[in-house]
Amino acid sequence: MEWEKNSWRNYKTKYVPDYSNTTELNRVENVLKQSSSLVFANEIRSLDKKLADISAGNGFLLHGGDCAESFSEFNADNIESTFKVVLQMAIILTAGIKVPITKIGRIAGQFAKPRTNSTEIIDGLELPSYRGDIINDITFDEKLRQPDPNRMLKAYSQSASTIALLKSFSDRGYTDLKHLQSWNMEFIKNRKQEERYHHLTNQIKDSLKFMETLGLISNDAPHLKKVEYFISHEALLLPYEEALTRIDSENGKIYNTGAHFVWIGDRTRFLDSAHVEYCRGINNPIGIKCGPTLDPEELIKLIDILNPNNNLGRITLITRFGNDKIETYLPKLIRAIKNEGRSVIWSCDPMHGNTIKGAENGIKTRPFERILDEVKKNFSIHTSEGTKAGGIHLEMTGQNVTECTGGIDEISEEDLSNRYRTHCDPRLNANQAIEMAFLITDKFRNSN
Ligand code: PEP
Ligand code: CO
Repeated sequence: MEWEKNSWRNYKTKYVPDYSNTTELNRVENVLKQSSSLVFANEIRSLDKKLADISAGNGFLLHGGDCAESFSEFNADNIESTFKVVLQMAIILTAGIKVPITKIGRIAGQFAKPRTNSTEIIDGLELPSYRGDIINDITFDEKLRQPDPNRMLKAYSQSASTIALLKSFSDRGYTDLKHLQSWNMEFIKNRKQEERYHHLTNQIKDSLKFMETLGLISNDAPHLKKVEYFISHEALLLPYEEALTRIDSENGKIYNTGAHFVWIGDRTRFLDSAHVEYCRGINNPIGIKCGPTLDPEELIKLIDILNPNNNLGRITLITRFGNDKIETYLPKLIRAIKNEGRSVIWSCDPMHGNTIKGAENGIKTRPFERILDEVKKNFSIHTSEGTKAGGIHLEMTGQNVTECTGGIDEISEEDLSNRYRTHCDPRLNANQAIEMAFLITDKFRNSN
């Protein structure tokens, strides 16, 4: 069947809302169709090259950001702090793994959420679930929970502002990181932790020396100051994705111009899915979330559809099983991919299989230990199967939130309510994210 940017409409759509006001929906779609592209094909091609390298075994993907961006938490400081943490993680990983690190944010468009339960009941009142700020409002109110197409315009404009901010941070590059030394002292300021992280402190120093040797933190190397940072989101709200799908005037190919990279969620990656049909026709690199219910044969069929020419870097498999399930499921997928000779990047999402509800207060959280355990098992499994762990996919923020338990600050269940700000799933905070980068480096060194 011929692909068109709207051919997904003939397939099975899940989690795309039924907008009751179709006139308004059409108007919004037309506004978006005429709006400027958020990313450009030459940038996407640059990402393609990096992903092809990772696929070939040279490089590592650091993919992270909010579970769900929100309109209310949008401000320059939050974006800057997340960006800085990502750069710091990238430094630690570059120095530890000694390969180029490609950085992609779950940012500037990560607004739509698939929700397992379509409704939520509070005190006997049943309303549609919150599905991300691009669709409806988090406030438990009958009117505000209705899907409103105008929210797509607000999401678009917030994405454009976010990209502008990220560009200005990227242009400043690593120069700001000269102060990394003092930042890291913050990370290890308490004595007990200083002991526990003594070897990590030494690693930071090594990393800085290494970066200096490369000229990455020298003022004399302006070409190295600019940081390449790509943006991504789940391609879930297909009317929005379709409206931002354009033909590149340079090479005549079709791209989603709302993000460099998009992924298909674990709930929408089935064979006759509208999401798979949509992604098949765009030339952006594609992620596929792989959870325990994904049958290896189905995965091969999905790849047949999404990457028939087996192009290097086109497909990133983002595996998310849970620390207690990864050993059962990941090897089966790896063997299927190897047997069929498919080239993919193996990225580990240790977040989505490790969500629990706090026993005391019922708050959704993720224990740092479980996240780390899945990461470690992921590396070990790839080593024993003879494949390369090519990336990590994290829900994280640069803010000092209390959403995941454990980690260097030993966040307890009781602490969760102090600064629990996520609009959807719990994220690693700045310290937990940095700590994770160190521990990944440690594990990587031991597995290779
Ligand atoms: C997500 O990445 O926020 C998400 C919903 O993941 P998954 O599709 O893997 O459940
Ligand atoms: Co999430």
